[in-house]
Amino acid sequence: MSEDQDPKQVVETAGAAFAQEFARFTGGGEAPSSLKDAEAQLRELAELRVRHAGKKSAIAAAKKLIGRVPAEQRASFGQLVQKTEAQITESLAAAELALKAYIENARTARESLDVTIPGRRLQTGRLHPITLMRQRIEDIFVSLGYAVEDDREIETDFYNFAALNIPEGHPARDPQDTFYTTEGFALRSQTSTVQIHAMQRRGAPVRMIAPGRVFRRDTPDPTHNPMFYQVEGLCVDRGITMAHLKGTLAEFAHRLFGPETRTRFRPSYFPFTEPSAEVDYSCFNCGGEGCRICKWSGWIELGGSGMVHPNVLRAANVDPEEFTGFAFGLGIDRTCALIYELDDIRLLFENDVRFLEQFR
Ligand code: DAH
Repeated sequence: MSEDQDPKQVVETAGAAFAQEFARFTGGGEAPSSLKDAEAQLRELAELRVRHAGKKSAIAAAKKLIGRVPAEQRASFGQLVQKTEAQITESLAAAELALKAYIENARTARESLDVTIPGRRLQTGRLHPITLMRQRIEDIFVSLGYAVEDDREIETDFYNFAALNIPEGHPARDPQDTFYTTEGFALRSQTSTVQIHAMQRRGAPVRMIAPGRVFRRDTPDPTHNPMFYQVEGLCVDRGITMAHLKGTLAEFAHRLFGPETRTRFRPSYFPFTEPSAEVDYSCFNCGGEGCRICKWSGWIELGGSGMVHPNVLRAANVDPEEFTGFAFGLGIDRTCALIYELDDIRLLFENDVRFLEQFR
């Protein structure tokens, strides 16, 4: 600072320079737009403090002039310096206080959590109703000593038809009903194919069930779908009779639908059994009185059954002179639809989560 500079001028310049740079903070200035912005402003404020109130600031230089001004002006000059310095430091302090309060609030708000907001529930998967039904059926037969077999869905003519005693020209072979591949394979139209595989693999005696998908060229409607589920059952041993078949399916119906359930066997025909029977059980809903579910008959069809035809045993290399057996085939999705009162079986295959999540 040069000697000829007016000390009063020095103080006023220092005050004005500060006022100009501090302008954006005065009277709260522009309120910070964010926590980050407030933190940036606080750093700027610290720089202002160094520049305008620090050891090398203009006001610090002015203080040193107090001793040099003429004695009669010293008091008033001293007061001017003090007043200006106080203005600077107080302005800085006030702005700093406001910013720190803002930052404190913003940080608290950021870290706070609303304990009254309802939690987000974890979406857990559910088993498909057909899987649930399949597992219930499997559990019953496993507890009766049956093995669970899984087998192929594409079959040769032998497994699909010939070994099941279905001769050439039989309507079941009609391409109107069966999906054939161009190589002459067929999608199995019944799980009875597994009877042959199981006997070939295990020999006799054998007790097994085979749940799985089957395919038929049906047009989808509320009670038909070109793909559906069956469970096949086969029991082959020495001395197996129709009584074993009846006892087994009666026990199964008790366990699946309740102990008061009755079963009835109606004579029928299947190429792979002789004799054959259609199995019904008393309606689980009305107990036989008659209701909408059993179509007012009191009975619901469970499936087909019979004593394994000797030709079928022979096709699987089991000696029909030594062994006899019974077999049955039940519809899984049909049972599912009845128990859950579905008015359209196609619901089971549409993969609509709103439908599927209702089952456990
Ligand atoms: N396979 C037959 C069907 O799809 C059901 C059936 C009937 C299976 C009699 C059997 C049986 O094992 O013995 O309609």
